[in-house]
Amino acid sequence: MKTVEVKDNIFWVGAVDWNLRDFHGYSTEKGTSYNAYLLKDDKTVLFDTVKADLSEALIENIKSVIDPQAIDYIVVNHAEMDHSGALPEIIRLVQPEKIICNAKCRDTLIAHFHDDSWPFEIIKEDDTLNTGSHNIHFLDSKMLHWPESMVSYIPEAKLLISNDIFGQHWSSSERFDNEVDQGELHWQAAKYYANIFLPFSPAVNKFLTKLSDKDIHPDMLATDHGLIWRQDVVGIISAYQRWSKQETAAKAVVVYDTMWGSTKTMAEAIGKGLSEENIVTHLFDLRFNHRSDVMTELLEARAVILGSSVMNNNLLPKMADMLTYMKGLKPGKKFGAAFGSYGWANKGVKMLNEALESMKFEIVDDGITSNYVPTKDILDNCQKLGQKIGQVIKA
Ligand code: FEO
Repeated sequence: MKTVEVKDNIFWVGAVDWNLRDFHGYSTEKGTSYNAYLLKDDKTVLFDTVKADLSEALIENIKSVIDPQAIDYIVVNHAEMDHSGALPEIIRLVQPEKIICNAKCRDTLIAHFHDDSWPFEIIKEDDTLNTGSHNIHFLDSKMLHWPESMVSYIPEAKLLISNDIFGQHWSSSERFDNEVDQGELHWQAAKYYANIFLPFSPAVNKFLTKLSDKDIHPDMLATDHGLIWRQDVVGIISAYQRWSKQETAAKAVVVYDTMWGSTKTMAEAIGKGLSEENIVTHLFDLRFNHRSDVMTELLEARAVILGSSVMNNNLLPKMADMLTYMKGLKPGKKFGAAFGSYGWANKGVKMLNEALESMKFEIVDDGITSNYVPTKDILDNCQKLGQKIGQVIKA
């Protein structure tokens, strides 16, 4: 994809990964991009690189702006391989005067690439770098989402190079938020938050407060993935504020796996009860839905109702997978309940309730089980459970 000048003398020089479909467990149905940026000034600076196998695209884009050897400094905001994979090749090509990063990032880069001869210059919170007509302000963004994460703010351009923050996994020829469908953009941004930043919500909140305390008000958020925010900067910051406080709405997700359809029938009865209370409800059969899409809907849901049949004295494998993933992402306080069918080992609801408790969800009911196929009475109880949860989360 062609280079784009995002601000005067600041260029997107990244690479688009059209075919990425899995980002360590997160389904990336729209691919992604790795957004490296180049600042042309008396001292020329490259901010981050791209995934190793896309280094040629980065080099080609840099060459369309300047001779790569004219780059003086490389700023590494984040050591994760999707932004640092091409670094060894770029360093060999550019021979930079300085590689600018914090101490933890240097240690991580050395642990990745086993080369401590690179010309590291270690910076810390609030250090600045003058490049001629720009003063880059470095800000710590620890645990957003790695320990060494930092961002770079260029006040003269009101541009925040925001590392992974505000990203979306989305491959496109467009570079800016206003050039794509807004509903899809915000859904992808929510998916990204739910699957990457959710466990670090307190740190997100602290970071946003820090920006405000330091009177940093960018008019462009140049994230490391997906579209650059220039039209709806306020909207995405406000969404991050809401998500970081784990605010919820009167919304429920029913997540289940089923063996012969009994648990599915129970899920549908619970969904009917919820809809009778006018609760926005989403049913996810894990045979057809990806864990990362469940997390996206769960982000703002106030209730999570889990269902599984019992197989070999255990939960069905897709539910076990879902719970491992969900627990790791540490969703905030929600209401929960469990249901499911069994044959001869009535253990599923107990295990699901334990999972809900381990996430500190408030369990609103002991749960409903069905020996093999649910009777009309059991389905009526499922419907009533849906109504009860609906009333609780509206209160
Ligand atoms: Fe996009 Fe944490 O790397």
